[in-house]
Amino acid sequence: MKIGIGNDHAAVEMKFEIVKYLEEAGHEVINYGTDTPESCDYPEYGAKVARAVVSGEVEKGILICGTGVGISLAANKIRGIRAVVCSEASTARLSRQHNDTNILAFGARIIGTETAKDIVKAWLEAEFEGGRHQKRVDMLMKLEEE
Ligand code: RB5
Repeated sequence: MKIGIGNDHAAVEMKFEIVKYLEEAGHEVINYGTDTPESCDYPEYGAKVARAVVSGEVEKGILICGTGVGISLAANKIRGIRAVVCSEASTARLSRQHNDTNILAFGARIIGTETAKDIVKAWLEAEFEGGRHQKRVDMLMKLEEE
């Protein structure tokens, strides 16, 4: 799968660990930065990856900041994005099965790299179940029209 990844200065090291993990698992990864520890603004990177997902440049996105909160909030401002911030694998899996999330976020200051890998694996392996969940996702996306 083609996956976009982005992060702020709080998550550079973890980002590269996750890129390595994804590539070893056979995914193609597009890195939208940042790649340096200099202070930067998470909305920029959240929006970059979100726009890449919406345009179809990548199929799914992964975002990392200190908590995962700011960067996921930024992504969710872009029409068509359903970003979830997770600290454990069950929420990540269910967010795919029930909410058809297209961006996964987590916090480099909240969880360790091994937990992050477990979350990524669970999220990528899970499929949207459709059915009764489709109607709710449709309702969710209609809220963007307000
Ligand atoms: C940066 O210091 C920090 O605020 C950011 O990484 C993130 O945690 C925001 O939600």
